[in-house]
Formats: sequence, structure tokens, C-alpha cells
Amino acid sequence: TPRPAMIPIRGVPMIKYFAENWGEVEGFQAQPDDLLISTYPKSGTTWISEIIDMIYNDGDTEKCKRDAIYMRVPFLEFAVPGIPTGVELLRRGHAQRRLVKTHLPVQLLPESFWEQDCQMIYVARNPKDVAVSYYYFYQMAKVHPEPGPWQHFLADFMAGAVSFGSWYQHVRGWWEKRREQRLLYLFYEDMKEDPRREIRKVLAFLGRPPAEGLVEAVARHTAFAAMEQNRMANYSTLPRSVMDHSVSPFMRKGVTGDWKNQFTVAQNERFDADYERQMEGTDLSFRMEI
Ligand code: A3P
Repeated sequence: TPRPAMIPIRGVPMIKYFAENWGEVEGFQAQPDDLLISTYPKSGTTWISEIIDMIYNDGDTEKCKRDAIYMRVPFLEFAVPGIPTGVELLRRGHAQRRLVKTHLPVQLLPESFWEQDCQMIYVARNPKDVAVSYYYFYQMAKVHPEPGPWQHFLADFMAGAVSFGSWYQHVRGWWEKRREQRLLYLFYEDMKEDPRREIRKVLAFLGRPPAEGLVEAVARHTAFAAMEQNRMANYSTLPRSVMDHSVSPFMRKGVTGDWKNQFTVAQNERFDADYERQMEGTDLSFRMEI
């Protein structure tokens, strides 16, 4: 079956089925105690989601294994024919305090999240590793258009012509929001460097004590090797028509600096020059390796 072309929402390229369901997303009613988990795709969304769900379950791994991650932390704008939409799952869920995942750029987030002053956790990852991870994800998640050869996909990524739009505008937009919003801004590279330190940051943000037993349990349950093997975290329970892990596993490598295996020297030089231009004037910075 041919892959669907993307449809723009206010100029941002969106997966066709998501765009067709946009009305439901735009009108979504957030609740004051919803916690929003926001990321550009491939930045550590699943990792931070599992960490937060573990914290919400006080470190009880059995509770975290009752359901797949996409049920425990519904994806707000998700819509694929034949599968409940993210908004349906959120409405159906009777959890008192909902966890909500989104990849929307800041300007497309439904108004109610701002009106309700929801707490938000954003995770950003360096763009070279994101581009590589996204390239493999496009291949295995068939709701995306064909990515084409790597050099074409990389050019699309730099131009913001990929699902959810420009990485540069995404990370910058959310970075500015943290000044006025209850928003914790985390980095994938920091999480790799010292996961326990970053888990403590999340606990502090949520107003919970940094109990060492809990920190340890969360760190162990959310280590890459553990999540890779965990059916309730690795997306292996989704239909093949949505994700085909034989093309590339969702839990692919989980490292920082894998871009060095993908970028040519010339691509890297072009990328760096363009990065300087697109990130001009911001104090936001990234570590391309750790
Ligand atoms: P790679 O493709 O570089 O391996 P998202 O959840 O936002 O879609 O991001 C997916 C990326 O995060 C993938 O990157 C995946 O391997 C990585 N990832 C998932 N869980 C992780 C974990 N526990 N530790 C480190 N990386 C993880």
C-alpha cells in the first residue's frame, strides 16, 4: 500500500491521518493536573514517559507493565484508522492525573493546556542524532512518507519538511516558553550522562522527595537494555501496519553520537553551517557527543 503524503496544519507538515483528525485535537480539554510530556520526535519521548509513569506508580514495575506505553501515556494527536485516537484514550482514561504525550510545536498546542496552567516536561536531543533516528523511524513507521535516500531526508530535516516540522523552531519555541510556564526542559544527552541526576530533577519538579530507593528503581527499569526487552515499553505490541520492527527496531541504539556513523564529512560541515544560522540568537545549546 502506498504511503500517505503529509498535510500541513498551519504550515507544519503533519501525518495525513493526524491532520484529518485535527479538529478533535484542537478542541481537547486539558485538566489542571494533566502532566504534558512534550518532545520533537525521536528525542527520548518513550524514555521520559516510562520514567514519569514509574514515578507516578511509586516505582511499582508491575503496575507499569499492565499496559503498553501508548496506553499509559496517550499520544494527543495520534490518529490512525482502526485504532483509538489519542484523544479517545485520554477521554476514556479515568486516571485522576493524566499523562499526555505530544510532539506538537508550541504554537499548535491546544489552548486549554495554557489556560489550565498544566505542568510540562520537554526533552530535547541534539539534532544530528535526531535526524538519524528519525530517518530509521520513517522507514519502519509506515504512516510517514517514504524518506528516500539519506541525503534527501537530511535536506528535508534541515528545511523543516518532515513530520512535525522544523526541529530548530520546535526546540527554540519550547525553550522560550519555559520562562512563563511551569516547564522543565531536559536534554537526552544529560539523561545519558547521569540518569539518576535527571530523575531527581523530575522528582523535584513534581514536588516529590528524592527517595533513593525510588530513584534506583526508576533508573533500572528505564535503562535502555531494560526498555528494549520490555514489551510494554518497546512498541512491539502495535500492529505491523503502524510500526515494522523488522525494518528497524523502535529501540534502535539508544546512544549519543551515532550520527558519526551516518553523516559524511561534507554533510556534517553543511549541517554545522546551517545550524549556526538557524540557531542564531538563542542561548540554547546542544552537545553532539558526551
Ligand atoms: P535511536 O534511534 O537513536 O536509538 P522517541 O521515544 O522520542 O521516539 O525516541 C526514540 C529514540 O530514543 C531512539 O533512539 C531510542 O532507541 C531511544 N531510546 C528509547 N528508550 C531509551 C532509553 N531508555 N535510553 C536511551 N535511549 C532510549
